[in-house]
Amino acid sequence: MGIPQPAFYIFKCQQSTPPGMPKPSCVTPQSQDLYQHLGQALMQKGIIGTVQPIQSACLNRCNVGPVMLVEPGHFMYMSMTKEKIDRIIDEHIIGGNVVTEYLIHDELWDEAISPSAMMAQMGR
Ligand code: FES
Repeated sequence: MGIPQPAFYIFKCQQSTPPGMPKPSCVTPQSQDLYQHLGQALMQKGIIGTVQPIQSACLNRCNVGPVMLVEPGHFMYMSMTKEKIDRIIDEHIIGGNVVTEYLIHDELWDEAISPSAMMAQMGR
């Protein structure tokens, strides 16, 4: 028997912009410990082996940050807090029920365009 693949990957945007920049970012003094909280919460539940937290660069939804992407499924959660992370772990990751009220709104997260369709649009 081989090494099991993770059941979930959780990408937490860890991008921060320098002070004074107009562009928002997901890591601010108020949100800088969210990734650590995510890892600790997964460890406390004993599921860090099958749920892989990943620090990511900008996920291109800065205006509703801090954001967190759960795979599989392309579930993008917005405006993260420690309380929201705890609930997502309990209800989505463990319970199997997506926490729809925390998901990014549809107008900011429309259906993906396949790479082949995008190439066709570009005439390539
Ligand atoms: S800085 Fe986090 S989505 Fe852009």
